[in-house]
Amino acid sequence: MKKYLSILLALVMMFSLAAMTPAVVSAEEQQTVGIAMPTKSLERWNRDGTYLKDEFEAEGFKVELTYSDNDVPQQNNDIDNLIASEVDLLIVAAIDGEALNRTLGDAKEAGIPVIAYDRLIMNTDAISYYVSFDNYTVGKLQGEYVVEALGLEEAEDVVYNIEFTAGDPADNNARFFFNGAFDTLEPYIESGILNVVSGQTEFEQVATAAWSTDTALARMQNILASFYSDGTVLDVALCSNDSTALGVAQAITSDYAGDNAPIITGQDGDIANLRNIVDGIQTMTVYKNVANQAVVTLELGKLILAGEEPAEDFVDGLPIEVAYDTETYDNGTGIIPSYLLVPTTITADNLEELVETGLYEWEDDYLVSTAE
Ligand code: GAL
Repeated sequence: MKKYLSILLALVMMFSLAAMTPAVVSAEEQQTVGIAMPTKSLERWNRDGTYLKDEFEAEGFKVELTYSDNDVPQQNNDIDNLIASEVDLLIVAAIDGEALNRTLGDAKEAGIPVIAYDRLIMNTDAISYYVSFDNYTVGKLQGEYVVEALGLEEAEDVVYNIEFTAGDPADNNARFFFNGAFDTLEPYIESGILNVVSGQTEFEQVATAAWSTDTALARMQNILASFYSDGTVLDVALCSNDSTALGVAQAITSDYAGDNAPIITGQDGDIANLRNIVDGIQTMTVYKNVANQAVVTLELGKLILAGEEPAEDFVDGLPIEVAYDTETYDNGTGIIPSYLLVPTTITADNLEELVETGLYEWEDDYLVSTAE
């Protein structure tokens, strides 16, 4: 009897070990994932690229990762090279969502499935799936923070002055961020409780090419000089992300004469902006756990690479809150099935939540990334 038990135990151990380790495949059988990130100059994409590469390699896939310096021709060239190297899956965070349809048409021709990563890619039927965050909610959280912080719901006989700084017009996300915030605040603009002193309320007026910190800085300096140099108080600078918030904060620090600290919003939890939140310069950021975004992309990619059709609810088994959406993201050729993670509001009061992700740690009074 003892002999049979030891054989049974050995068999159980063998199968459970096999289940834990990724299947060892020959170099010929090993599948390759091509990952195209927009730039290293915007902090978050360095993390996205690292997390994605680590996740797929840990599962036994070969990874080719490119960064294209926010240069659109360069990104087309980089993706062309990934197609030429016959990758089995493409994961693309577009610099310009309107500028990849020829290149990704070649990917479709070559039978390479494409996941649009974080930013929707437009006017091409080569996109199989979209993995991002609920981008409208990112903006809504920024607007809701302002409503809450100023008590706008109860406000009477008071006027707060606000300026908007949106993102890159080439980035499909940017309009979702702006609309989420503007739709939340528009009732208060219409009632006169919020006043956009510069009058700049259209996306095209407040957009920031390439999400550039310097461009956001120069534009806010111009607004301050034109509309606030007479002592007009600025109560809110609503910025769609942290790289633009950094520029706006620099402009306010150097050129704003008021003795109040305007509310400044952001997105991404960039290290410099987290410092500004600790120092009371920036008021909030909308945090998106891109490590989780990489896990969702990995699980989706594995199903695609196995030739399977991901079930709508395949994300339900993940320890990550993800919504399956087939209504919001039409890329011009039809709705792209989307997996949307959930953003969260971070202020000086809940920075510990970032530490709890394991992706940040305290270094004296400030947070640094554990990945560095
Ligand atoms: C957006 C992205 C944001 C924002 C911006 C700059 O598409 O979703 O996280 O920071 O690009 O990278």
